[in-house]
Amino acid sequence: MCGIVGHIGPKNSVDIVLEGLRRLEYRGYDSAGVSFIDEHDELQIYKKSGKLDNLKGLLEGKDFQARMCIGHTRWATHGEVNDTNSHPHMKDHISIVHNGIIENASLLRKELATGGYEFKSQTDSEVFLALLTRELAKKKSFKQAMLDSFALVEGNSAFVVLNKDVLEIMSIKKGAPLVCGINSVNSEAFISSDPYALAGMASQLYFPADNVLCHLSPKNKNLINFYDNKGNPSEDFMSKKQDMSVGPTDKGEFEHFMLKEIHEQPELIRSLTQFYFHGEGLESLLKAGEFVPSKFHMTACGTAYYAGLLIRDFLENYNKIPCSPELASEFRYRNPLLQKGESGLFISQSGETADTLAAQELCTENNIKTLSIVNVDGSTLFRNCNNNLLIRAGMEIGVASTKAFTQQALTGRLLSLALSKEVNEEASRVKLTAKFSLLAEKIDHLIARSEEIKDIAESIHNHKGFFYTGRGVYFPVALEGALKLKEIAYVHAEGYAAGELKHGPIAMIDEDMVNVALVGPELFEKTVSNIQEIKARKGVILSIGPKDHEELAELSDYYFGIDFDGLEELSPIYINVVNQLLAYYIAKYKGTDIDKPRNLAKSVTVE
Ligand code: F6R
Repeated sequence: MCGIVGHIGPKNSVDIVLEGLRRLEYRGYDSAGVSFIDEHDELQIYKKSGKLDNLKGLLEGKDFQARMCIGHTRWATHGEVNDTNSHPHMKDHISIVHNGIIENASLLRKELATGGYEFKSQTDSEVFLALLTRELAKKKSFKQAMLDSFALVEGNSAFVVLNKDVLEIMSIKKGAPLVCGINSVNSEAFISSDPYALAGMASQLYFPADNVLCHLSPKNKNLINFYDNKGNPSEDFMSKKQDMSVGPTDKGEFEHFMLKEIHEQPELIRSLTQFYFHGEGLESLLKAGEFVPSKFHMTACGTAYYAGLLIRDFLENYNKIPCSPELASEFRYRNPLLQKGESGLFISQSGETADTLAAQELCTENNIKTLSIVNVDGSTLFRNCNNNLLIRAGMEIGVASTKAFTQQALTGRLLSLALSKEVNEEASRVKLTAKFSLLAEKIDHLIARSEEIKDIAESIHNHKGFFYTGRGVYFPVALEGALKLKEIAYVHAEGYAAGELKHGPIAMIDEDMVNVALVGPELFEKTVSNIQEIKARKGVILSIGPKDHEELAELSDYYFGIDFDGLEELSPIYINVVNQLLAYYIAKYKGTDIDKPRNLAKSVTVE
């Protein structure tokens, strides 16, 4: 979704902001823009719909020495994708960028238009510019005008404003990610919606709380000052050394980030127990297991939710702790019953998903403890939870989540060990390490058979629709497999509990419908009966099941046999890697933009 980067300092700010925006490209966007103060103290603005390269094209050959700049990648919410609706928005000596949604925009827009403001764009964001212009016209200070304008907008937003008159940047947010940074050696101050944009540039990071005004100015002794909503100095921010490295963000030998990330899984799985069963990792695991709740409320969105369903099975089977899974977007508006002694469990890659954050907030308001299983260290979810387990997946760039799913589910398995006394027994830790290693090894073998999956994908990619079916522990990965195919191949796919098909959806089955049957060792016979029902109705069967199984092979139009031996509860994670590769190759035959599928954003920071 939208990305923000801002910079003040002696280096050319435009270059720094463009580099930050480049790093945020993976999040998905449809236009980009920058606004800056040039060497003649003029406020300039350049913006263009489409890729960042279009914006760079506009700037080519222009040799600016900007000393402060704000930039934005937009993911359209209000108003179509065009140059005018792109950010920044500028009036007189002010330009602004915005992430989030102003919920009372249409009301404010009418009021401001009646007052004489002429809107140029269809965006809700320009409403904040109009408010600011109005407040400044009342001769208020920049600081006061920011606070008063912000008080009038509803919803979750982050605003970053560049003011040419005072040569300052101010920013304020509520319920949207924002991070400030400094590099005191180089006298530089930064602001962004994502700490990754500042990796290797800022040495110290500050995560402001909601409603805290951030003031970036070369005149400030510490480059950045923070104020509360009354304008008094505030210390309501979390400070942290920047330890994130830019890391290898190239695809290496792979055609797509998604494929690279699928291939990274075995190594990541091996290193997970290495981390969690020693030193600092073990400490954090033991800490997460200290509080054994009477019930978990597990909430998440999309792929993270499906990983959460596998975690639910671990917690209920091994720990006998009831776990109630719910989509975060539903949970937050449903007045769930949250009782003393229970715990909220949140699964997220980004740690910035608006609905998951709202669900966490609801649990905190109801005084129940919160625990996250999250990838991004220092993300809002990480900061807001009482306890966190990092999934250590590294940066995930492909919009379709793959390695994060696997790491989330496995971290959930580690949590279930931590919640039992077994975590203290060396033998139990060794046993689980061996199981994780076996999984990694089997995934390696599976990846080595990618050509076979590619051939199946070639044969079935033109079919009109896909039902992914599974039972028991394979049902969550049926849902995940279908989601993967939908999002990157734009093919209609549904995940179903195999036993549910005859309660309605079986009416859809014909020669053009593929049933991807996920047939693990659990509930094997029952799942095979469900396949028979589809076969009888002429559906195309692709079964992914135990290797060398003659009956299954005979029953199926396509059969991909895999070796489940010794995996037990980890078998759904294993079978899901076939789903990932299948979706990847079908999308490749369809010719879609696999790493940046249409309409999607990597981290969904609006509800
Ligand atoms: C699908 C996908 C999404 C995310 C969901 C939650 O491939 O990536 O469904 O899983 O938007 O995002 P996080 O995990 O960042 O909270």
